[in-house]
Parts: sequence; structure tokens; C-alpha cells
Amino acid sequence: MAAKPTGTKTACVVGGTGFVASVLVKLLLEKGYTVNTTVRDPENQEKISHLLALESLGNLKIFKADLTDGASFDAPVAGCELVFHVATPVNFASEDPENDMIKPAIQGVLNVLKACAKAGTAKRVILTSSAAAVTINQLNGTGMVMKEENWTDVEFLISVKPPTWGYPVSKTLAEKAAWKFAEENNIDLITVIPTLMAGPSHTPDIPSSIGLAMSLITGNEFLINGMKGMQMLSGSISISHVEDVCRAHIFVAEKESASGRYICCAVNTSVPELAKFLNKRYPHYKVPTDFGDFPTKAKLTISSEKLIKEGFSFKYGMEEIYDQSVEYFKAKGLLKK
Ligand SMILES: NC(=O)c1ccc[n+]([C@@H]2O[C@H](COP(=O)([O-])OP(=O)(O)OC[C@H]3O[C@@H](n4cnc5c(N)ncnc54)[C@H](OP(=O)(O)O)[C@@H]3O)[C@@H](O)[C@H]2O)c1
Repeated sequence: MAAKPTGTKTACVVGGTGFVASVLVKLLLEKGYTVNTTVRDPENQEKISHLLALESLGNLKIFKADLTDGASFDAPVAGCELVFHVATPVNFASEDPENDMIKPAIQGVLNVLKACAKAGTAKRVILTSSAAAVTINQLNGTGMVMKEENWTDVEFLISVKPPTWGYPVSKTLAEKAAWKFAEENNIDLITVIPTLMAGPSHTPDIPSSIGLAMSLITGNEFLINGMKGMQMLSGSISISHVEDVCRAHIFVAEKESASGRYICCAVNTSVPELAKFLNKRYPHYKVPTDFGDFPTKAKLTISSEKLIKEGFSFKYGMEEIYDQSVEYFKAKGLLKK
């Protein structure tokens, strides 16, 4: 057996059971980092099975921590040079978004940052935000370009309460709380702002975001309506490969000159445009292409110009994102081979 790389740097990844965090843990181990990751229930062998499988890649320690329990982050964060706060409460079906998503997301960000301030070893903290914290507004028209200075209109979401409103509110308020705490406590914070992610997952369950991204292929009407709702509320269908998003997290963590917010978005499209692309690429899945009077053009695009100017390059475009997601779904028995 090959010797495990002995990491010279230690990084903490908060929320190792998740889709994104588990890919990030893998990439960090492959780069030789020693990784501390946190999960809510380390006794649940089924839920952490993918992390146990990653232990063979290097030095990985699994800690028990909950976003609502501040003291639980002291041990995993201690001694870490980099802290990646990836976890967030996600419950789109919640009837009480305030208590299920908004409060614990803000509390979680503050608890992780407080633990970093206490430990005093973290040179940089990288928070996973979301395009949902950037693009939602009441502006009309098409051709808008959204950049890091844009913030989602929380007052609009709270007053109108469109479906799934709690998630974008939680992401926006949690990111704003992180910036305030970091400025007041002199923490070097960077936020990565990803779009909808797809690509293969290590997790035992199929992540809901891949299910959503794949809905035009699987024909799941409920999720296709979810995609339409996403375009109407967020202004576009913007997609990235999960590995690129994790590479971007590590890139901004390691790049001395990086600062502030970084949007990470590989492809901007709309439901009808995406359907046309998928129908042509995978004709046997009979992806529908008639969407009636549903808007063909997205209202906006989300720009990764700042990240690219910093020196980052995307590895995967639309073709690779979907080819790999289709293969992943086939391997999981969710699509015919
Ligand atoms: N996936 C996307 O398309 C997408 C797009 C944009 C931004 N993002 C952001 O990327 C990050 C990761 O998303 P994901 O898709 O990987 O989500 P995910 O698979 O649902 O993972 C969420 C993680 O958060 C953890 N968590 C939830 N509540 C917690 C709590 N109270 N205490 C501790 N941990 C808690 C979950 O732990 P359990 O396993 O114990 O529930 C899980 O590990 C999130 O910040 C999300 O907002 C994702």
C-alpha cells in the first residue's frame, strides 16, 4: 500500500457528510493536507461511510459538531491554518424556515468564526455562500450581469415569501453576519459563491442539487418545475461542476492576494436552452423542448470574472458536467445504461 502523504498544513472542513464538503475533503487530502472534518453524528456509520473510505488517502480526523453548539467547534478548528465552513441547514420543504434554516445558518457561521477567533491558528476562513445570496432582485429585463457587489434583496423575499424563500434568506443573512464578525474580529474571511452544482458525489444518498440539475433528463415533473421556479426567482439556470467549485475553494484559500467574495459559475443558461442542449446530446432520453411561453432567455448571467482574473481556470464545461452526471446516475441505477 502506498504511504499516506503527511500533510504539513491542517485544514478543517465543516460538514463532511455533505455533497460539496466530501469532494473538498478528498481534494485536500490528495494535496497532502491533514484534514479535520465535522459531522453531526459520527456514530452513524452509514452516513459517514464515504468519509471512512477517504481515510485511505491521508490524514483525516472526524469530529462531532453541530452548527447550533458553539463549543463543539473548538476541537476540530484548533491548530488549523485553513477553515472551510461548508455546512448549512437545507430544508426546502420547511414550514418554518426561520427556525429550520435562517437562525441555525447565522448561528452556525458565528459559532465557527468564534471558534476560529478563539483558536487563533486559522490564517484564513473560507465560507461557502451561494448565488442565492447574490442574484434575487425585483429588477426587470434581460442581459444583467451579476457580480460580487450584488446582494439578494432579502426584504423582497421576506415580504413576498415565494416558494423556497427561506434558503436564499438564510444564505444572504449568514454571509452578511460572517462579514460583520470577520471585520470586527480581524479574521481573514473569503466567501465562495457557487451556483447549482452537479457531477458525481461520494455521498451514500443522491444530493438533491444533482437531482434538480438532472430533472430534464429523468423527466421528474416536480423537479422540472423546481428548475423553472429557479430561473424565475434567481434569474438564470447557472451550473458548475462540484469539483471545480471545490478547486476554487482551495485556490482562494491558498492564493495570498485573494480577498472578498468570489463568484464561481461555469455556465449560464435557461431551462429551454438547457433542454435544447440535453435533447441534442442525449437524444435517447427524449428531453422535452417545448416550454410554451416560458422565457427562453435568462434574465441575467452570473460572472466569475473576478475569480478568473485571480488566476483560476474551470476544468469542466456543460458537456463534461452533464456527461459525468449522466454516468453517475447510470451507476446509481437512476437512468438506464
Ligand atoms: N449543492 C449546490 O448546488 C449548492 C449551490 C450553491 C451553494 N451551495 C452551498 O454549498 C454548501 C454545501 O452544500 P451541499 O449541496 O453539499 O449540501 P448538503 O449535501 O445538503 O450538505 C449540507 C451539510 O450541512 C450539514 N448540516 C446541516 N445542518 C447542520 C447543523 N445544524 N450542524 C452541523 N451540520 C449541519 C449537513 O449535515 P447532516 O449530514 O448531518 O445533515 C451536511 O453535511 C452549502 O453551504 C450550500 O448552501 C450548494
